[in-house]
Amino acid sequence: MNYAIQLPVSVCRNNNRTVLEERRLTAVLDKPVPLSSPSETMDEAQFSRWANLLERRTGIYLPSRRRSFLISSLNIRMQELGIADYETYFNYLTTGARGAVEWEILVDRLTVHETRFYRDEQALAVVRQHARQWLEQHPSSSERFDIWSVGCATGEEAYSLAILLDDLFIHSGSCAYLGITATDVSSAALTAGRKGVYHYHRIKNLPESFQTHYFEALDEQHVQVIPELQRRVCFMRQNLLELGQSRIGKMDIIFCQNVLIYFPRERRLEILDYLAEHLKPGGLLVLGAGEIIDWHNPLVQAESRQGALAYRRSALETEA
Ligand SMILES: C[S@@+](CC[C@H](N)C(=O)[O-])C[C@H]1O[C@@H](n2cnc3c(N)ncnc32)[C@H](O)[C@@H]1O
Repeated sequence: MNYAIQLPVSVCRNNNRTVLEERRLTAVLDKPVPLSSPSETMDEAQFSRWANLLERRTGIYLPSRRRSFLISSLNIRMQELGIADYETYFNYLTTGARGAVEWEILVDRLTVHETRFYRDEQALAVVRQHARQWLEQHPSSSERFDIWSVGCATGEEAYSLAILLDDLFIHSGSCAYLGITATDVSSAALTAGRKGVYHYHRIKNLPESFQTHYFEALDEQHVQVIPELQRRVCFMRQNLLELGQSRIGKMDIIFCQNVLIYFPRERRLEILDYLAEHLKPGGLLVLGAGEIIDWHNPLVQAESRQGALAYRRSALETEA
C-alpha cells in the first residue's frame, strides 16, 4: 500500500464519525498551542502501539531498548505540530488524508538513513568484478545492465554504484545501457537523492579522480552530482513490505546493504526470496555483512567473494 495516495479505509467510508473525528483533530491542530515539550511518559502499552504501527507499515522492528529514540522523535514532531499528547498524535497520524501526509514525515524521522559514499569497498569490488565479467561476455552489446540499490537512503549508495560502473563501462568502450534504480520508503530521503547535492566532506571517501569527474562545485560547501550521472539513477518510492505490487523489472545486480538488519528474520526471508526472483539469469545479489545467516533459495547459490556476502542466480535459466 502506498501511504501517500491510499487513504485509510475509515476515510474512504466517509461516515459521520470519521468526519467528526477529522474535524475534531483539525480543530486541535488549527488552534495555536503553546509549544511546551510534551511531558507525558510513555507506558508499555503506548510503546507497543507505536512500535506495532511502525512494524505494520514498514516492517521495521523497534525493540524496547529504542524507546527513548521513539519518544524523542515523537516529541520533536509533536512540538512542531503543537500536539501535547501521544494519543492525539496517534489519531492524527492514522486518520484521513492529513494523516497519510504526516506519516510520510514521521517515517522519515523513525528510519535510520545513515549512509556514505563508497561505504563498503569490498561489496563494491564484487560489483565491479561481476560487471567486468558481464562486459567480457557481452563485448559489443547494446543490452541493458540494470542495478538496484535497495534502501538507498539519500542517494550516496546509488551514486557510488553509478560512478563505479559508469567509469568501468566507459573504459571498456561498451555501448550497453547502464541504469540504476534506487528505492526507499522515505520520500524525504529520495528527494535528497534526486537533488544530488552533498557537503563536499561527504565525497572525500571517493577516489580523487571520481570527485572531480562526477561532481561540480555548487557553492563553498556543497557539490552536485553532474547531470549525466544523475540521469542514470532513477529514484523511486518502494516499501519493502509491498514488493508484491512493485513494477521493478529484473536486475543484473541487486545491492542491499544495511537495510534488512532492521527487520525481523521472517520478513528478511520473504524480502530475500522476492529479491532472488528479481535477478536476471546470471544476476548477483550483494548483501551487507550480517544481513542474514542461513538463507537458502533454490534460485541462487551463495558465493564467497572477497569477504562480501553474495548470491548468484544460475545463468542457464531462460528469462521469464
Ligand atoms: C541505514 S540506511 C542504509 C542506506 C544504504 N543502503 C547504505 O548501506 O548506506 C537504511 C534505509 O532503509 C530504508 N528503509 C527502512 N525500512 C524500509 C522499508 N520498509 N522499505 C524500503 N526502505 C526502507 C530507510 O528509510 C533507510 O534509508
